[in-house]
Amino acid sequence: MLNENKMTSELIKINSPIYINGKKINNRIHLAPMASLGHIAYRELLDSYGGFGLMFTEMCSAKALPSENPKYSKVFRWRESELEYLICQIFGAQPAEMAKGAQRIESEGFFGVDINFGCSASGICKKGCGAEVLKDPKRAVAIVKEVRNAVDIPVSVKYRTGWEDNPQFPVDMAKRFEDAGCDMLTFHPRVAPDRRRRKPNWSYIKLVKEAVSIPVFGNGDVFSRENCYKMFNDTSCDGALLGRIAISKPWIFKEISDGFDLPDSKYKECAKKMIELIEHYFDETTGIKLFKKFAIYFAANFKYGHAIYTQLTNGNNYDTLKSMVDEIFETTPEITKTPNMNMFI
Ligand SMILES: Cc1cc2nc3c(=O)[nH]c(=O)nc-3n(C[C@H](O)[C@H](O)[C@H](O)COP(=O)(O)O)c2cc1C
Repeated sequence: MLNENKMTSELIKINSPIYINGKKINNRIHLAPMASLGHIAYRELLDSYGGFGLMFTEMCSAKALPSENPKYSKVFRWRESELEYLICQIFGAQPAEMAKGAQRIESEGFFGVDINFGCSASGICKKGCGAEVLKDPKRAVAIVKEVRNAVDIPVSVKYRTGWEDNPQFPVDMAKRFEDAGCDMLTFHPRVAPDRRRRKPNWSYIKLVKEAVSIPVFGNGDVFSRENCYKMFNDTSCDGALLGRIAISKPWIFKEISDGFDLPDSKYKECAKKMIELIEHYFDETTGIKLFKKFAIYFAANFKYGHAIYTQLTNGNNYDTLKSMVDEIFETTPEITKTPNMNMFI
């Protein structure tokens, strides 16, 4: 546990602006990219609480981007007003296709483009994308170079420890990405085969931070205000990406950056608003699926989270979902201080 003074100094750091390739970001805690969770509706919900610096989109296929139509795409879709702090993440296997994807992102006016070298899902790795690229460092560097040469907007990389638990690899890669023209790194210190099972090794974030002069954002297992401050304190990172906790508690950025908690009424309001926004943006079949993905993280906030999750996922249309939420909050469900991690997938 950090003492009061340490907490205050980390709070000041979190609220200080940072520049990426000359572009200003208002603070240092950001929404991590998350497939099927960080969609346009969720980001509008998050925007209503505020307190974050940047948001990352779900990963988008670089190959598909040049012909993607935002009117019909589930993932390549945004509100004009969020573009100034929204980074679009791409995955792909080949430098030329990644460069073309990045050009589309630049032409649409996004803050920047992020290269996914972290995803270890088998469907992505089988195509030679995501963390799989780290098995071929030369190709990884070639991708960064080609994307860098193709666009002027900030270019960042999100990556993992690699495939073996050796900190020298991410340190070397950080230097090579910087030399290739990358403007910022997000480092998630877990090996790819771990996915998210074992604890991330934050001490590796510190090593990566010390190895380069571009900003390094840490990521992995920030689940509360206190341990967010601790990540900044322990690793000297320039920023942090929050993933699953941002879905459980979309107000977490506001609470971290303000330093105090919002009232408990936020839970019901949040669930209601999430349904309304999903309804606004997605057809019912897609929307119900997306709400169910959100619901597991949201339900993890409650003592009897599994029962609440079952209730929340019972509905198969928007109206039933809304009445389920009313029913759940008729009796005030007991809230746990930290969400039940066993429900985090
Ligand atoms: C459901 C889910 C989907 C994810 N999708 C992506 C993705 O599209 N791109 C990516 O770089 N990371 C993805 N991640 C990884 C997160 O960005 C983050 O690195 C990971 O969850 C660890 O951070 P956390 O402990 O704050 O959740 C995903 C994670 C989850 C749980």
